[in-house]
Amino acid sequence: MSLIIVRGLASKKEIHLNVSKNQINLTLLEFLTQEGLPIASSCRGQGSCKKCVFNIDELSCQEVVSNFIGKKVSIDYL
Ligand code: FES
Repeated sequence: MSLIIVRGLASKKEIHLNVSKNQINLTLLEFLTQEGLPIASSCRGQGSCKKCVFNIDELSCQEVVSNFIGKKVSIDYL
């Protein structure tokens, strides 16, 4: 099973998200938004606004879901 664990730094909640085959090549920004965890963004994934941060200092619009299968990612507002 393809799974990504999302940890909220504010709530300390962990959410386990299943990744389907057609989601594997999405950006993390697109995937989390599809899964109902919208990430702040004002440049729509162009890499310029720097609002889509996860894991403290990484940009979710610049990372592909496949690189995070089986891993934990953190977002601060959850
Ligand atoms: S969405 Fe703007 S930098 Fe990622």
